[in-house]
Amino acid sequence: MSTNQPKDDASRYPDVLKSHEYDGIQEYDNPMPGWWLWIFYATIAWSVFYVAALGAGWIDDYDAQLERGVTEVAELRAAAEADIVPIDEEALVAAMGDDSRIAAGEAAYGRTCAACHAADGSGGIGAALNDGQWVHGDSPLEIYTVIRDGVPAAGMPAHGHFDEEMLIDLTAFLLSL
Ligand code: HEC
Repeated sequence: MSTNQPKDDASRYPDVLKSHEYDGIQEYDNPMPGWWLWIFYATIAWSVFYVAALGAGWIDDYDAQLERGVTEVAELRAAAEADIVPIDEEALVAAMGDDSRIAAGEAAYGRTCAACHAADGSGGIGAALNDGQWVHGDSPLEIYTVIRDGVPAAGMPAHGHFDEEMLIDLTAFLLSL
């Protein structure tokens, strides 16, 4: 057998054996499977459509997507900020005249503050709260702020984790003492 003859099963594919031959090596013409080719053609078709759609503005390009995202974030932020009602003196003064708020404040005070300030606010570990003397200011807003932010250096813990309504109730209660 001469070296440039196809070997083994070559005779089973007589018509797909390529005619060229190098150093005795020949190859078959094996076409890609049909399903594979169709996926390949589909990607070409899609790329043509995609470029056209991008040019025509049917699909957002990167800048447009970015702009949309930035707008969305700004809207969410604005909506969240609109929900925050900044605490003001007026809301606190209104709460001071509200017995149910004072009662709610008293209940919360008994649970969290009495241990240091005594049940009647006469003080102990913490300063007296019923003597009309306020080291950190006597306005409702100043008292509210001390309860929320505490005076960490002096041992008064911050209560910023409390619900804002509860902080208002506590302020109303302290001012009723
Ligand atoms: C761990 C003890 C402790 C607890 C609990 C505590 N406090 Fe105090 N509080 C203090 C101390 C100590 C001071 C004095 C801080 C200073 O001298 O600056 C103080 C000061 C204050 C003041 C300022 C008084 C002034 O003269 O200006 C207010 C108001 C106050 N506390 C309210 C509260 C309320 C309301 C709670 C409960 C939510 C609370 N505290 C819980 C220890 C405590």
